[in-house]
Amino acid sequence: MIAMTMRGAYIFISTFFLFMPISIALAVAEDHGHGSSYLAIGSSVSIQDEATVTILVSPNGAFACGFYRVSTSTFTLSVWYAASSQKTVVWTANRDAPVNGTGSKLVFRKDGGLDLLNYNGMAVWRTSTTATRASLAKLLNTGNLVIVDPDDHHLWASFDSPTDTLLPSQPMTWDTKVVSASAKGSLYSGFYTLYFDSDNQLKLKYNGPEISSIYWPNPVNKPWSNQRATYNCSRYALLQHTGRFVSSDKFKFEASDLGDKVMRRLTLDYDGNLRLYSLNTASGTWYVSWMAFHRVCEIHGLCGKNSLCTYMPKLECSCLEGFEVVDPSNWSEGCKPKANITDDWDRHKANRRGHPVFLNQKVRRN
Ligand SMILES: *[C@@H]1O[C@H](CO)[C@@H](O)[C@H](O)[C@H]1NC(C)=O
Ligand SMILES: *[C@@H]1O[C@H](CO)[C@@H](O)[C@H](O)[C@H]1NC(C)=O
Ligand SMILES: *[C@@H]1O[C@H](CO)[C@@H](O)[C@H](O)[C@H]1NC(C)=O
Ligand SMILES: *[C@@H]1O[C@H](CO)[C@@H](O)[C@H](O)[C@H]1NC(C)=O
Repeated sequence: MIAMTMRGAYIFISTFFLFMPISIALAVAEDHGHGSSYLAIGSSVSIQDEATVTILVSPNGAFACGFYRVSTSTFTLSVWYAASSQKTVVWTANRDAPVNGTGSKLVFRKDGGLDLLNYNGMAVWRTSTTATRASLAKLLNTGNLVIVDPDDHHLWASFDSPTDTLLPSQPMTWDTKVVSASAKGSLYSGFYTLYFDSDNQLKLKYNGPEISSIYWPNPVNKPWSNQRATYNCSRYALLQHTGRFVSSDKFKFEASDLGDKVMRRLTLDYDGNLRLYSLNTASGTWYVSWMAFHRVCEIHGLCGKNSLCTYMPKLECSCLEGFEVVDPSNWSEGCKPKANITDDWDRHKANRRGHPVFLNQKVRRN
């Protein structure tokens, strides 16, 4: 049914092209399909050409779900805020495996499974609803994409597997992991994770290629001096519609714009800071209404290893004495020892009459 609706919209737009000035036609081509309220079992939606496709829209119009264009010809299946001036993605099925454009499709199989197929027919993502009484997929007013049975019981929910964002009423539980994006504007998984640790505290952890460390709450302090409790093993946290966040470990915060008329999202940003954003509905832009760190320096990994992070007053990374930056355009690569100040170097220099061979030697030794 939806497939027909989608095809209908596509044909309509194609015919439109013949009569409209080019500029208007391009504006229309930005997003194909106006979205539907549900996707019925047995239907499928394909990427028709290299444009974002809206498949579902929440009844209140705040959220949309569909094929989100991440590059010229690759797409993710995502849920985004439709009310912001630029689509703000809040959930993605295949963040680390985008599908190619034409030919990729979302298939709601007759046996209940929802599959995202790449152009070659390979599934890159699927739900666990095979052989259930699944009947519909729909996008709720909260931004939760759900698969329901004929009695409207939720068999699967996108709220159970967040990416980098928690929405109001989306609980953080035992095995929830919120993982940052790798860079500004990217959807790929990055190095920072928000999760409940084995001591029942909500924590932020940097999981870099070489080191891994917890940086929030302040690992130097005892839980009580961070105003945290470790005894409540329910491990449950929630951002309420009013802008209050409460957690079973006693951590809590309030949005600076407290009240339930504001659209918000709690995002673990690519820089490792956890920020609550509120939507300015007049301009369609987001503003920060709470954040975990006012000093970004406290976040591990930002300046890489062997470096110092300072505020003066702008954030600056610098190498420890005796070290030099690996890549000045990317401080997360950190600093490496300066070749000519090590004892090793001095020894080689003495042995080899000044030939700069230390680095080669080191490579050969490995
Ligand atoms: C699919 O996308 C990947 C990643 O962008 C690209 O390398 C590959 O060439 C594409 N394949 C086809 C058949 O378009
Ligand atoms: C533990 O946390 C849950 C969820 O926040 C809460 O309902 C419960 O009252 C807490 N238990 C104690 C003993 O504080
Ligand atoms: C910076 O370096 C990190 C760690 O090596 C790497 O993962 C990341 O992709 C780099 N970022 C850019 C923008 O090159
Ligand atoms: C080696 O050290 C000297 C002074 O200690 C410095 O002037 C020079 O730039 C260094 N060379 C390299 C390759 O780092």
